[in-house]
Amino acid sequence: MNKLDSELVRASLVSAGFEFVNRIEEADLILFVTCSVRDHAETRALSHIGNLRAFCRKRPDVIVGVMGCMAQRMGAELTERFPHVRIVCGTRAFPLIAGIVAEATRTGGPVIRLDEEFPENGPDREPSQRPSRHSAYVCAMRGCDNWCAYCVVPSLRGPQVSRQPREVIREIEALVADGAVEITLLGQNIDSYGRDLPGDYSLADLLEDVNAIPGLLRLRFITSHPKDLGPRIPQAIARLDKVCEHLHMPPQSGSDRILKLMNRGYTREYYLELVGRLRDAVPDIALAGDFIVGFPGESNEDFEQSMSLLREVRFQQCFLFKYSTRPGTRAEKMPDQLPEDVIVERHQRLLKEQERIALENHKAMIGREVEVLAEGPTRKKPEMLTGRTRRNEIVIFQGEAGLEGKLVSVRIEETTPVAIYGKLTNTSPV
Ligand code: 5AD
Ligand code: SF4
Repeated sequence: MNKLDSELVRASLVSAGFEFVNRIEEADLILFVTCSVRDHAETRALSHIGNLRAFCRKRPDVIVGVMGCMAQRMGAELTERFPHVRIVCGTRAFPLIAGIVAEATRTGGPVIRLDEEFPENGPDREPSQRPSRHSAYVCAMRGCDNWCAYCVVPSLRGPQVSRQPREVIREIEALVADGAVEITLLGQNIDSYGRDLPGDYSLADLLEDVNAIPGLLRLRFITSHPKDLGPRIPQAIARLDKVCEHLHMPPQSGSDRILKLMNRGYTREYYLELVGRLRDAVPDIALAGDFIVGFPGESNEDFEQSMSLLREVRFQQCFLFKYSTRPGTRAEKMPDQLPEDVIVERHQRLLKEQERIALENHKAMIGREVEVLAEGPTRKKPEMLTGRTRRNEIVIFQGEAGLEGKLVSVRIEETTPVAIYGKLTNTSPV
């Protein structure tokens, strides 16, 4: 979502006549789009912001702004701590960024905007302003009503607000007309899309309608909450030809006791049952997950339950996070906060196990011919292209630049835990 927000900010500034430069020394305006999900992300952003102090002393005309979740969380504290920060733009104010910059230029700032209402249908999007020609993110909904005990998102991004289906579809049609062939629908909790809209239009309906857009080749949606993934979703993935066989559905923990403390609203048994249902409907589905290691009160036994869930599901990809205490969350006040060394040790063990599983999963692909959407040359070897399978695996293969944005066939030949290498067998899909 942050990537998309940065893209939308960039697009509205370009529409307002701004130009982007590659070197910071050439900039008149420096904006940080920040994340508050973990402390580490904030610490890094704060250090980058602090590092600009000397630069701004030499160039007092330069405007520095902080946007996104950390801006929303810290507000005026940012301008007090860093007097060179002249814009603080919260999570619902970024569509107004061009006007905010104009105001800061006129008045010298600081301009602090935290209480805006997000425009009902999001900022107008200029389809040509996007980083990838063939893949695009599209926001289906913002905010979240779930209040997981560890998470700052609901307090910083606000309650769930779904966009009108016709707005989402109109935006995708414009992107496809401009050359996008792969769309990823975004929402903090995408499976509850539509719940706040009148009528009973849901994610399954949106998938169906987007699937019907001519010219679109692939459709994805993230992120899924196990408790909200309704019975129509596995069927939709199975039935709709453009919907890819890939689902990011974080379990967060494998222990019922911890899931309850986290306020996740499901049990381990339910999660496994859901995985079974998904695999019955879509046998080749790739599942991605997030786990948080070291939630307050997590015993060794609880941790082993996460380890065994990871082994049982055999995720194609897992994002494994060390628990990070976030201000204002329920978990912040829970007893038994774990020492860092225990969290680090458990995190390492889980990472190692996932690496082992990923390597086995990758090895099982050797010899198979897969459909790949060619994305672009690799950074180190321009004669090699990267691309993704429908299951979202990244594949590296030899091919010409003209294939970018096309579906091709690749036979998998070699794998490592991080990369899969293949040979181009056909410049059309399998
Ligand atoms: N500490 C660690 N990880 C977190 N996440 C969310 N909040 C925290 C936190 N306080 C993780 C969850 C979520 C992902 C986006 O970030 O796993 O799915
Ligand atoms: Fe945070 Fe939970 Fe909402 Fe995800 S579902 S954004 S983890 S509160």
